[in-house]
Amino acid sequence: MAVIKKFKAVKISQNHLLGIQDLSFSEISHILDEAKTFIKLNRSSSKKTDVLRGKTQINLFFEPSTRTQSSFELAGKRLGADVMSMNIVNSAIKKGETLIDTAMTLNAMHPDVIVVRHQDSGAPNLLSQKVNCSVINAGDGRREHPTQALLDALTIINRKGKVEGLKIAICGDILHSRVARSNIYLMNMLGAEINVVAPKTLLPHSVERLGVNVFTDMKRGLDNCDIIMMLRLQNERMQGSFLPSAREYYEYFGLTPDKMVMAKKNALIMHPGPMNRGVEIDTNLADDINKSVIREQVELGVAVRMACLKIYCKKT
Ligand code: CP
Repeated sequence: MAVIKKFKAVKISQNHLLGIQDLSFSEISHILDEAKTFIKLNRSSSKKTDVLRGKTQINLFFEPSTRTQSSFELAGKRLGADVMSMNIVNSAIKKGETLIDTAMTLNAMHPDVIVVRHQDSGAPNLLSQKVNCSVINAGDGRREHPTQALLDALTIINRKGKVEGLKIAICGDILHSRVARSNIYLMNMLGAEINVVAPKTLLPHSVERLGVNVFTDMKRGLDNCDIIMMLRLQNERMQGSFLPSAREYYEYFGLTPDKMVMAKKNALIMHPGPMNRGVEIDTNLADDINKSVIREQVELGVAVRMACLKIYCKKT
């Protein structure tokens, strides 16, 4: 059965996957349907296909990553591509080479796709204008993390059967979070109602214009929700003081059992990772197999990245 709705002969209009905002509903549906076909393969004993045999994938991560980088690497290898993950620490970037010069150098080696994570918003867009291959955004600054939002949607659909009509609370550091932005765009497009919950200091200016309900009280924000997405405090993007203390933050905005009761009985807990236990989430709730789908998000992330590589790699 189709994940959302079956669309015939969907064409992805862009050569690059730079953000959810560039995608139409039918393109999103196509990516999620494609991803669903890889879930079974990834659970089987033989996980390899040759869909991307002969293709070259370069992973270029300027910021630390566990989940995104490893799943893109596994995804490419399971599709049969030749995958090279640049070791930025030992690269010429440390000698002052710019992002564009690095990209042009790699472009000369004829990759078919470059997967890039960068601390600057818009860096993947800039890169995409300089290279001949497809570029997939693996997270840029505060702007977008499209494959994270897609894997979150797939996880919700896998558990709840749909996104449309669900009430989703996105809680924590909304201001600095590319995951929040991509999810707000995507879940809105798929027909969810979205609450964002954060202290005033961690809410972007005029966030309600993104089509969300805004709460600064966690219990009110979680009321009757189907999905609770917790976010990490992005300390690396904070200049100055946004919070009195981590302890106080946990008391008011950490997901704890007494706040969780406000959500629906069968509400699911999500977190893109990495988690800070005891800061934004109670450690027992994070590990509660009846409520938390955090591990499933990681699992389905590989399937989503396989779908994206298959679709975008073939476009070059
Ligand atoms: N969710 C996410 O982007 O995690 P990593 O930073 O480990 O890739």
